[in-house]
Amino acid sequence: MGEVQIRPATAADLAGAAACMREVLETDLGGYTERWHQDLDELEATYLQAPRAALFVAVGTSGDGEEVVLATTAVRPCLLASPPNPAWLAGRYNRPDVCQLVRVWVRPRARRRGLARRLVAEAARWATGAGGYGTVYLHTDTGVPGAEAFWRSMPTVEVLDARPDPWNTVHFELEVPKLLTLHGEPEALR
Ligand SMILES: CC(C)(COP(=O)(O)OP(=O)(O)OC[C@H]1O[C@@H](n2cnc3c(N)ncnc32)[C@H](O)[C@@H]1OP(=O)(O)O)[C@@H](O)C(=O)NCCC(=O)NCCS
Repeated sequence: MGEVQIRPATAADLAGAAACMREVLETDLGGYTERWHQDLDELEATYLQAPRAALFVAVGTSGDGEEVVLATTAVRPCLLASPPNPAWLAGRYNRPDVCQLVRVWVRPRARRRGLARRLVAEAARWATGAGGYGTVYLHTDTGVPGAEAFWRSMPTVEVLDARPDPWNTVHFELEVPKLLTLHGEPEALR
């Protein structure tokens, strides 16, 4: 796979990011659903133009020298719907100092090489720095192979195990200081 660069996405990365996201949606997540995945159609507005939002990409190089987006991770203000989420959870996390990590998605051929770990560290560094957030929240569908194992391998605190629910949801907070101690070297210095 060669050297893989983790960086904030620019407009030039968006077509590659969308292709990566769509591959993961098809492979692991049952395909595109407009209700949940509309940000894929509006990556620039949602992550590059909106305040306090960001998109990070892991970029490798194909055999013919073209850049390929292998993985993504995005940050956006936390806005949990309730229902289906409990009112106490939405009340606790729908606050200006909380962001949500979303689209932590790695193409199948690029997995188990630490890309999600590197992306999450970089996104968390941005969120608690330039993003101005104090808390990083996320939830995951534990029915997707590897998803729960990945988040439990990271410095996370479980907030709510909502199972059994239709999406096998477990909610977490990221322990950012611990994460940055463990995986803290900024990508720019790697
Ligand atoms: C979950 C996912 C993001 C992991 O990405 P990844 O780049 O392969 O993860 P990493 O290589 O950074 O893994 C870090 C650690 O997580 C754990 N882990 C990751 N995938 C795992 C798996 N399939 N089984 C068991 N443990 C796993 C391991 O402890 C791993 O460390 P190790 O490889 O040194 O043992 C990826 O499989 C994926 O995109 N899945 C589909 C979408 C999804 O469910 N995303 C997460 C929810 S938002």
